Amino acid sequence: MNKSATKYFAVIGNPIEHSQSPFIHNMFAQQTQKNISYEKILAANNGFKDVVSEFFRLGGSGLNVTVPFKLKAYDMCDSNVSVRAKIAGAANTLWMQNGQLHCCNTDGEGLVQDLIRLGHNPKNKKILLLGAGGAARGAAPSLLSAGCSTLHITNRTVERAQKLCKQISQQLPHFANLVSYASLSEQGCKGVLYDTPWDIIINATSSSLQNSKPLDIKFDFSSNALAYDMVYGNQATCFMQDLQKQGIHQVADGLGMLVGQAAISFEIWNGVRPEIQPVLSALRHKISASS
Ligand code: ATR
Repeated sequence: MNKSATKYFAVIGNPIEHSQSPFIHNMFAQQTQKNISYEKILAANNGFKDVVSEFFRLGGSGLNVTVPFKLKAYDMCDSNVSVRAKIAGAANTLWMQNGQLHCCNTDGEGLVQDLIRLGHNPKNKKILLLGAGGAARGAAPSLLSAGCSTLHITNRTVERAQKLCKQISQQLPHFANLVSYASLSEQGCKGVLYDTPWDIIINATSSSLQNSKPLDIKFDFSSNALAYDMVYGNQATCFMQDLQKQGIHQVADGLGMLVGQAAISFEIWNGVRPEIQPVLSALRHKISASS
């Protein structure tokens, strides 16, 4: 460990007890020889902004933000927001720069890094994104920037998918002809080109969290396709199980995305990108052991 002054970080949410962020960031710090302290902060639902202001007033260096405060974090930042945070309307990473609060949304980049790790680089891939809530809004710009050839967004409430498409077309016009939307139905998931099998299907709905029945959709996918659920746990989610039954080549949950988004936050704050794989292996082991 180096002898520089300790830098203070935390993750803020409600609830927060379950958060794996301290484990992840402390491992990153060990790996990169950074002297940090990383805590969990439970904020009252109406107390978020005061807690954030106090954290930085006392010299804190950076905050990760989780449910339900990502929208409020974004709102606190005036103009100092990344394009990805702007499209998501939500931020998961806060820091001070020149006396002003800045924010970013690293979820999408974390997802892209994980897809690459899994051998499914989004470049030139046809991607089906299920959902148009916060998780999908965080993911979409990064998937497009990573060079996917098509991004088809489907949502139960089709108006939200339409709104996300419109936002992308307005704010990232060079990607406008790559995005399309439809309802989350068998027909809607076929996309605009009816002979298109998907290379990557990403579940960004919260349906897996409800531990409910599968989405009841028969998907078209290519022979080497990946089904990715942004949710993670100590066993395959019902979405992953369903796609396996449908015969997809590979499935993955979102634990790698969790570590990936944390690595990008860590780099923003500390100027060095940590290695993901050793932390992901340790975290997978920790989660399995606690079940
Ligand atoms: P998050 O930040 O996790 O994305 P959210 O903004 O509340 O949370 O969005 C949840 C997403 O999951 C939405 O796309 C939601 O669809 P609607 O916009 O129609 O509500 C989707 N979702 C939640 N439960 C679902 C279910 N059982 N089947 C299909 N989609 C579901």
